[in-house]
Amino acid sequence: MPSVLIFGGSGKIAKFITESLVQKGYQVSSVIRREEHIPSLRELGATPILQSIESASVSELASIIRTSAPDIVIFAAGARLRAFEDPNLSLVVDRDAAIRVFDAMVKAGGTKRLITISTMDARNREKAAPSWYNEVDWKGSDELWGMLPVYMKAKYEADKDLVEGNGKRGLEYTIVRSTWYGDGERMGKIRAGLAGIEPRISREDVADVLVACVENPATVGCVFEISGGEVPIQDAVKKVAEEKVDSFGEMFR
Ligand SMILES: NC(=O)c1ccc[n+]([C@@H]2O[C@H](COP(=O)([O-])OP(=O)(O)OC[C@H]3O[C@@H](n4cnc5c(N)ncnc54)[C@H](OP(=O)(O)O)[C@@H]3O)[C@@H](O)[C@H]2O)c1
Repeated sequence: MPSVLIFGGSGKIAKFITESLVQKGYQVSSVIRREEHIPSLRELGATPILQSIESASVSELASIIRTSAPDIVIFAAGARLRAFEDPNLSLVVDRDAAIRVFDAMVKAGGTKRLITISTMDARNREKAAPSWYNEVDWKGSDELWGMLPVYMKAKYEADKDLVEGNGKRGLEYTIVRSTWYGDGERMGKIRAGLAGIEPRISREDVADVLVACVENPATVGCVFEISGGEVPIQDAVKKVAEEKVDSFGEMFR
């Protein structure tokens, strides 16, 4: 049975991912921070592992990966609402703990496949905006960085570390960079690739994109955006994989 280990497994997106993967016959283990999430994860069919990733060393994280020996690791954690109180937590969770998970995969010495949820527009803002941005994207970018500068920086630096550090690490990564999402209805259709910020998307659609990446190994090496659109998710992800979309160059240069 294929297996997946999700860091931040108690998150809303992570739970949608878990539900779908369990239905498809995957074994799912979920690294979580708070004990109160254990019953709901067990109900979904996942195996909870209680370990806050912000206080775990690379060795501790590697030991979890070695014990669980998953085929695929998903990084879905984020400080999110806690970061409204203390923005520094975005750096602690979304950047530093993410980077320790990347390093832990290497230290564990088994699993190479990694899929992460990042965010639209995590980039070097001192450089020109990406060539595919239009006026709506420029405005959206100003809004995102104006509201959540530390969060955007954290996601940018984690993505950068993953891509630029991969000569050393040799992971088989995919980075999904979603636009803003909410609790809206699952549409089953998206725009993927160099997608732009609008329209927004639902959490369930984001989760379905991650599941499509789990099931499509040809997405290895892709760094792509998703927003609302008209292409069925599996087809959109297949096209990204065929075209080997990699927005890294323009975003980080
Ligand atoms: N909202 C958007 O529009 C948007 C767009 C693009 C990307 N994203 C990113 O997508 C990711 C998933 O989002 P979501 O909606 O599923 O958020 P969520 O429900 O807040 O999930 C994040 C999960 O990370 C967990 N986590 C935080 N610190 C942890 C730690 N130290 N150890 C273990 N787990 C920890 C949280 O657990 P606790 O609740 O116990 O802290 C929570 O379950 C986040 O990184 C988010 O920033 C969001």
